[in-house]
Amino acid sequence: SFIHRFKGLYNIEEEVAKKLGIKKVLVVPGFYDEDKFVLREIGRAVSIYLKSILKNDTVLGITGGQTMAMVAEEMIDEELKLANITVVPARGGLGKDVENQANTIAAKVAKKLRTSYKLLHMPDNISKELFRSLSEDPNIKEVVDYIQKIGILVFGIGRADKMAKRRRLNEEKIEVLRQQGAVAEAFGYYFNKDGEIVQEINTVGVSLNHYKQLKHVIGAAAGIEKAEAIISISKLNKNLTLAIDEGLAKEILK
Ligand code: BG6
Repeated sequence: SFIHRFKGLYNIEEEVAKKLGIKKVLVVPGFYDEDKFVLREIGRAVSIYLKSILKNDTVLGITGGQTMAMVAEEMIDEELKLANITVVPARGGLGKDVENQANTIAAKVAKKLRTSYKLLHMPDNISKELFRSLSEDPNIKEVVDYIQKIGILVFGIGRADKMAKRRRLNEEKIEVLRQQGAVAEAFGYYFNKDGEIVQEINTVGVSLNHYKQLKHVIGAAAGIEKAEAIISISKLNKNLTLAIDEGLAKEILK
């Protein structure tokens, strides 16, 4: 029955939160690995939860990826009864898929919430020198300042190996990550299974220190292959709220 199913998932949510030692877990029914539609439900769960915690004068940071793209897609389309919410990308652009870039997603979320947004016109993977000169641009500087004021971060969680490929790292660099024991990637950092940073992408974006101090961080992910990555990321900030599918939840509990 519905009640049983509901109760069952509620128990799983509690168990996963306890195992990971984090604030809150939202589990969406179904197995993403069998039914990709489940990603929509994750997007919806994040949207509802986000609306419940948003307050006036908040800078909302959003990352890229297909999970976050679904969060934007499923963001509830209604005017916020809140003042001064600004949505910003938490990192620069990545890859050639416009729909999955943080900029696009931030703009889409802001439009659905009828609020303002800032775009970061800078690629994710540039040299320190280039970054320094680009940062002198007043438009870029403005967005960088906003990023530093992020109060709520909504982000995707990836496997280190998959994200390294997506970022088009060469085989040599991928091998280094492997040797360093990288299992997870989030907002431009690679982490080992203990949640220790092994590498970072040295451009603009929310910093690890900033992340660790945030009261509200909402991570979303689907698919059993991300279990190890979730366990790693959960060690960074216990204020994490995690939105995942039932399949991934059960994998984490194994
Ligand atoms: C990226 C985030 O855009 O999405 C990463 O910046 C994250 O930190 C990744 O690892 C996850 O992507 P996806 O497509 O699996 O949701």
